[in-house]
Amino acid sequence: MMTKTSKGQTAPSTRPPGSAPAPGSSPGSNTASNTAVGVADGASAARKLTQQGHGAIIGLQWGDEGKGQIVDVLTENYDLVVRYNGGANAGHTVQIGDQKFALHLVPSGILNPKAVNVVANGVVVDPAAIRQEMTGLRERGVAVGANLKISDRAHVVLPYHKLQDKLMEKALGADRGGEQMIGTTGRGIGPCYADKAQRGTALRMGDLLTGEELHKKLGHIVSVKNVMLGALAQAVGEAFEPFDAAKLYAEFAEHGRTLREHICDTTELLHSAMEGGRRILFEGANACLLDVDHGTYPFVTSSNCSSLGIYAGAAMPGGKVGTIIGVVKVYTSRVGGGPMPTELKDDLGEQIRKTGNEYGTTTGRPRRCGWLDLLAVRYAAKISGITALACTGLSVLASLPKLKVCVGYRWQGQELKAFPADANVLAQVEPVYQEMEGFGGPVDQCRSQADLPAAARRYLKLIEEYTGVPVVIGCVGRRRDQILWR
Ligand code: IMO
Ligand code: MG
Repeated sequence: MMTKTSKGQTAPSTRPPGSAPAPGSSPGSNTASNTAVGVADGASAARKLTQQGHGAIIGLQWGDEGKGQIVDVLTENYDLVVRYNGGANAGHTVQIGDQKFALHLVPSGILNPKAVNVVANGVVVDPAAIRQEMTGLRERGVAVGANLKISDRAHVVLPYHKLQDKLMEKALGADRGGEQMIGTTGRGIGPCYADKAQRGTALRMGDLLTGEELHKKLGHIVSVKNVMLGALAQAVGEAFEPFDAAKLYAEFAEHGRTLREHICDTTELLHSAMEGGRRILFEGANACLLDVDHGTYPFVTSSNCSSLGIYAGAAMPGGKVGTIIGVVKVYTSRVGGGPMPTELKDDLGEQIRKTGNEYGTTTGRPRRCGWLDLLAVRYAAKISGITALACTGLSVLASLPKLKVCVGYRWQGQELKAFPADANVLAQVEPVYQEMEGFGGPVDQCRSQADLPAAARRYLKLIEEYTGVPVVIGCVGRRRDQILWR
């Protein structure tokens, strides 16, 4: 069934059994038309796309799909933009004219003067990092005041979380030649979520405002952390300077005083906004294949980054989110450890990395690059209930004469029907590729999907047919005018 075709036809046989419905059979209840190409007016296309309930934007690969750009272009249709998961491990780049903004904790809606931006309870907040980001935005003329709210229930990342992150990676690095290393961003994300589950060693943003209570809690937590981290540091041969509870108290009480006007009960805020008929956009950080429950565990991050995280991470009852836009880069990138079946370890991978500027926004690390993996994307779209796709990075593939798209996996001589749960299996699968024609030249000047070369349109059609979800947006660059609607 998963045959290689030499010319870029979109053979219907590429849609494996049990996959989403075929094109034209109404893949989602509120999806845009599958056939109408060339809506010239982006604003009305955005309005049409976002009219159903509240909205969400979710990355469908291993991150860095270009979510920030899609959030940015849709925010004017919403009153609030909400981050519900992750922390400063995210790096969302938004380009407005010639100005580039790299956002980590502050929702991308901050660049829209009308939006209220919410860092909800499911996020882990590094107060120093968010303050630095707020200052950087203000220095560039972006207003940050009452338009930024931080949940009092959001957990706090402290310096010992970052040290623990680093020491744990070192400990994993010593095992089996380092193949167990997650390659984290070092932002303390995993240890902070672990403390959230542990409870007795956790702090929430609201705790920063409690004075003596914070002092007491930190005294207890720091004594536990010093014992644990001292032993861990010794085990991996690192020097350890015990944390000083009084110093941490002074530092974090000061963060509390500075952030006080932003810290509030965002659950109440979101629910009264909904009752008042205001519209909410949820901005996913990280991505579906990094989801702690549904991603390539253990090579994942520590939160539910799929749309499933919205419900717990922002106190949002199921059914309220009507438009769930999946962002797919038309090739694959991954940063950190873990399996990536379509990785190109050759010059072609390097060419994609250079053309796509695939270096981390958060850590500057070179990203691993490879062909589009549609089997993985279809799985991600399914678990997130995606109703429309935004395909980014088309211009990066434009100079390649031939393209390949992964449309299946073979493992131990068998074709896999589903995305495997076991990372070791995923590391061993052999991708089944469909070959596609190159686009035949640059696409960055195209201003509608109808302007795209036929081969590029066929490429998008393959994505649509395989996933069963319409491609409503195609991006040929990072600027707002390089977003192609249909
Ligand atoms: P955005 O929002 C790409 C990856 C890390 C590492 C793993 C765990 O920019 O798309 P962590 O520090 O979260 O414990 O690291 O997850 N990772 C990301 N990779 N983009 C991201 O976010 C990521 N967030 C986490 O590289 O492999
Ligand atoms: Mg990133």
